Amino acid sequence: MKLSTQMYSYVLTCALTGLATVPATAEPIVIKLSHVVAVNTPKGQGAERFKKLAEERTQGRVKIEVYPNSQLFKDKEDIEAMQLGSVQMLIETTSKFGPVGAKEFEVFDLPFITPDRDSFLRVADGPIGKKMLQSLEKYGIKGLAFWDAGFRVMSANRPLHRLADYKGLKMRINSSRVIDAQMRALGAIPQTLAFSEVYQGLQTGVVDGQENVMSNLWVNKFFEVQKHISITHHSHLAYAVIANKKFWDGLPDDIRTLLEGAVRDSTTYANQLGAEEEIDSIEKIKASGRSTIYVPSKAEIDELKKATSPLYQMMEGRLGRDNIAAVVKAAGGGVP
Ligand code: SIN
Repeated sequence: MKLSTQMYSYVLTCALTGLATVPATAEPIVIKLSHVVAVNTPKGQGAERFKKLAEERTQGRVKIEVYPNSQLFKDKEDIEAMQLGSVQMLIETTSKFGPVGAKEFEVFDLPFITPDRDSFLRVADGPIGKKMLQSLEKYGIKGLAFWDAGFRVMSANRPLHRLADYKGLKMRINSSRVIDAQMRALGAIPQTLAFSEVYQGLQTGVVDGQENVMSNLWVNKFFEVQKHISITHHSHLAYAVIANKKFWDGLPDDIRTLLEGAVRDSTTYANQLGAEEEIDSIEKIKASGRSTIYVPSKAEIDELKKATSPLYQMMEGRLGRDNIAAVVKAAGGGVP
């Protein structure tokens, strides 16, 4: 594992001060929860709801410190930092789990695999999702829940109607190999950038476009530097709520049970907010007049589906053939 000097010294400080361990005294158990987006996003608000519920229900025996906006760690560093115990919890995009080893988490990125919210939840909250969360244990991670951030859309400074419109565009992606292959299949050039660098990357032309959920486009003001948004709904942005397994298992049983309940209830809240903010953000961006919002026709979507359909076979080695088939069956999605 390669750590930056800054992160290394932070990890060392945590180790020396015992920040990452459960105190044996009556002092509250401090849980640092990190994420990369703003407080006023569905994930940011979900994290705040978890804090509130956890602190109330444990009657002050637990203190949740939420660090939004990549304040502590950026995309690539945060899972590693949690594995090392510098933070105890994260809410992170499943597309970023590949470097840890959990490549099959990129299954949610297969284009058009979950055609609607219900199909996503059927996979995430059903036996497939449970097995995926359990599979994280071998990496020292306790998988607690999936959150649904909503459908991804595409944006750029030129209209994105037909497949040909993607040709040659430098598109920001997160570290998912599936999304990398998707952009290449569309004729675009994928560029991995940390979420905290996306606005500037778009503004300065390091990248031409990106894919994301509407609430991130609105809250992070990507719409100010992207003239065109296409409601492609090509995949769901999934989050996983995760904890350092050693820390989680070391919690007193009653506290762990209360925290699991708080995760469950904040999951319901965050999913609901995700659905509402998706619609709300479209309206607000429309009203801003800064970006046009285009809904592709069925023929235009079919063109994207056709171009990306080889990914289902191409990614069998990475995601597992049976895994892909199981998700397609449960979701009722996939491409022709
Ligand atoms: C997030 O919503 O957590 C960030 C997603 C991204 O990196 O695009």
